[in-house]
Amino acid sequence: MALLRKKKKLYEGKAKVLFEGPEPGTIIQYFKDDATAFNNKKKDIINGKGVLNNRISESIMTHLNRAGIPTHFIKRINMREQLVKKVDIVPIEVIVRNVAAGGICTRLGLTEGDPLPRTLIEFCYKSDELDDPLISDDHIYCFGWVEPYELDEIKIYALRINDILTGLFAAANLQLVDFKIEFGRLQHEDHSEIVLADEISPDSCRLWDLDTKQKLDKDVFRRDLGNLTEAYIDVARRLGIRIDSNKLHEQHEEQE
Ligand code: CDP
Repeated sequence: MALLRKKKKLYEGKAKVLFEGPEPGTIIQYFKDDATAFNNKKKDIINGKGVLNNRISESIMTHLNRAGIPTHFIKRINMREQLVKKVDIVPIEVIVRNVAAGGICTRLGLTEGDPLPRTLIEFCYKSDELDDPLISDDHIYCFGWVEPYELDEIKIYALRINDILTGLFAAANLQLVDFKIEFGRLQHEDHSEIVLADEISPDSCRLWDLDTKQKLDKDVFRRDLGNLTEAYIDVARRLGIRIDSNKLHEQHEEQE
């Protein structure tokens, strides 16, 4: 009889649940099928989304690790779970934009699809109650959310991640329009290290087909443009991830 693993839940977010990991300093990140947009005002369950994001984020984090970006990712455990290093998430969302889309169009009156003069980094304060407001570097320094040297590192990592992922997606005939990343502090004995945390998936990136500009990311859900699962399967396959559609509905514990 299979032994049921009882894990201690540490935190439940909109798309993921965090459980205590098997060893100190580790966490299990479980990907749910819940889709939310407009800060939880639009919600649905999208069958298989968690499995797809687990696989896509694994593939991207592995690629970034190999390219020398420190991340929290250790390994994927099963169809919905991955083992990550425990970090203290800094309360800032880092948004990197190559092309105008989404929030910046409304805010600055830009037309979706307009290329930006150069890659733009924006910061938002992580707070659902406040709708993740846009903040400046000075807010970050003023409230001490991140030390100035840490923010310098975060900006350098954000631009390197953008370069690496722009190439990765271009090879899959996808344009990386924008994306959101989060960083955490990994505690060592006598110092802490800034590492990439959370996930990178079509939930947190805008990805357009390079030729047709077809959207293959969460905008499909936000704007009711079609079948989100099919869009994410397309992204996964383009990245060379083998997806078995029979396994998209597995919940967890399915050790491969
Ligand atoms: O479109 P919207 O106004 O929600 O957000 P945005 O600021 O235009 O989003 C820029 C990029 O960050 C998009 O790829 C979003 O999917 C992603 N994002 C995210 O993953 N989580 C957030 N809380 C905000 C943005």
